[in-house]
Amino acid sequence: MSDGFDATAAKSEVYRPRPETIANYTVPDYSSLRQQAAADPIAFWDAQARELVDWYEPYEQTLDVSEKPFYKWFTGGKINIVHNALDRHIKSWRKNKLALIWEGEDGEQRTYSYFKLWKEVNRFANILKSMGVRKGDTVTIYMGRVPELPIAMLATAKIGAIHSVVYGGFSERALGDRIEDAQSKVVVTCDGAWLRGKTVNLKDITDEAIQHSPIVQRVIVLKRTGQQVNMEAGRDFWWHELAALPIAGPYCNTEPMDAEDPLFILYTSGTTGKPKGLMHSCGGYQVHIAATLKFAFDIKEEDRWWCAADPGWITGHSYIVYAPLILGATSFMYEGAPGYPYPDRWWHLVEKYGVTILYTAPTAIRGLMRFGEAWPARHDLSSLRLLGTVGEPINPEAWRWYFNVIGKQRCPIIDTWWQTETGGFMITPAPVTPLKPGSATLPFPGVEADVVREDGATCDPNEDGYLVVKHPWPGMARTVWGDPDRYRQTYWSDFSSQEWYFTGDSARRDEDGYFWIIGRMDDVIKVSGYRLGTAEVESALVSHPSVAEAAVIGVPDELRGHAIHAFCILKSGETGDLALTDALKAHVRHEVGPIAVPAVIEIVESLPKTRSGKIMRRLLKARVMGQPAGDTSTLEG
Ligand code: PRX
Repeated sequence: MSDGFDATAAKSEVYRPRPETIANYTVPDYSSLRQQAAADPIAFWDAQARELVDWYEPYEQTLDVSEKPFYKWFTGGKINIVHNALDRHIKSWRKNKLALIWEGEDGEQRTYSYFKLWKEVNRFANILKSMGVRKGDTVTIYMGRVPELPIAMLATAKIGAIHSVVYGGFSERALGDRIEDAQSKVVVTCDGAWLRGKTVNLKDITDEAIQHSPIVQRVIVLKRTGQQVNMEAGRDFWWHELAALPIAGPYCNTEPMDAEDPLFILYTSGTTGKPKGLMHSCGGYQVHIAATLKFAFDIKEEDRWWCAADPGWITGHSYIVYAPLILGATSFMYEGAPGYPYPDRWWHLVEKYGVTILYTAPTAIRGLMRFGEAWPARHDLSSLRLLGTVGEPINPEAWRWYFNVIGKQRCPIIDTWWQTETGGFMITPAPVTPLKPGSATLPFPGVEADVVREDGATCDPNEDGYLVVKHPWPGMARTVWGDPDRYRQTYWSDFSSQEWYFTGDSARRDEDGYFWIIGRMDDVIKVSGYRLGTAEVESALVSHPSVAEAAVIGVPDELRGHAIHAFCILKSGETGDLALTDALKAHVRHEVGPIAVPAVIEIVESLPKTRSGKIMRRLLKARVMGQPAGDTSTLEG
């Protein structure tokens, strides 16, 4: 069932690049680059690995397929992402160039030159060491959108430890599960985070989360909001107090890592209940993200790059923290939400800091669009030269608004399709690619994507099918943390060849070869660009004492892309009144986090199931959307 926008409506609409865009683009002939890379993807990635990053020791093999699907890239090479993101710039003229500009929700401003950021990272790396963190250990980071979050990530990577960042919007249960799964002895958090003028009690949530995790020995707490928190002697330490100690010196060696050593774990939702910790590697990941940011967004020395995601998601990991620093760019980061505390806060920031490239999610664009054109019109947005989007299909209406009202028809829209699993962009235009609103256009050089039928045959133009990737790429997640079988099962077992990566998305390709992403085919819902598994919300609902069974679906929502619609069967004797549905919403908020709260909770007597007992969410969806039920032959009699 397709519930995306009607792609055919926008198909005839093509926006060609302006001559000056073509003249200024970093690659003289992008189509030839794509063609060459298609003919020999390994040679393309090899060239990027040589050009964009430094190696302590060169690799012996670009791609090792001997243990597929556990592909290895750049084997034998020694590298550290922090050397490429920071250390090498300190030895160059970029030492005093701005790496990061940050503005808090309350208007506080901070700037970090490469030199300053490097020193802060070194200090925190020394602090981590003094807390007993060693190469190969995991560190869980649970913070708001403050510069210390990237600092903590970079410091962890510098000493060869593995970070697991948990988005600050998750609740204690979700945080606790992730700490347990990653077995982190050290957690880094804040007293609180600012969110729309209110504080979120991150330290309290951390305390609750680790109550059941005896593994946690040390908690480092950044003071951000200044609120009262509980500090347990011997376990909890203030960041600023540690930073004032002699152990927190501004020099720290960077640990040379094997290309295939783990760099980080990032949890994401899948079909089954337990979120999976995708593991990314030290070598291939950085090559992939640096190459994609360079070609897709044409990053230049003088750019002011604003990726408006949260560092706690893959978009933030790859394109707030690592790739811009590797390329020596200047990034801007904002603590608050779009449109807070006033509707033109973002446009004010673009003007104030001279942002040249803005990269955000369709849901944010739709939200800002609602305020009307008068808000952006108050600002000089002429610094912008490129605009980007990610996270869900962008509806042509939002695309056109972004293009016309924000970009004044000058700025190409770079619609990047990718996933937590892919590490970096996979299908994306470059600034010189002719654009069609709503299409992520064409695969990045060296990426072999296709749309196939169930039997693996390539679909005809405009035929819906499974989106697959047929050749390994360097940024690919290497495994599911602690569960390699799940990795193989989830991503590599769907087609007989077992050599294609299964994305979980459906898509179609038009007669020009342009990709149109339709949406998820599995039980994953994208709400405001956030990825949630139906099973996560369902298990939160059934953990409430009044609920016997639950099913959750995503229904199209104008603003959020999808909204969660839940169906609950109550235990006998329970009444489904407003008080109960409110209590259930509060319960989901507590168990998973605010992003998982259903927009609607419907109390039902039964749920449609297959004869083998699987809930037929497809039928529930058809019912909510007033569509025909389709094939019901497997429905329980
Ligand atoms: O369904 C696709 C959608 O987001 C999913 C990946 O979600 P996540 O791992 O949270 O990563 C989001 C940021 C990379 C995909 O399977 N998606 C992502 N980008 C796009 C998209 N759908 C359509 N167009 C996009 N540009």
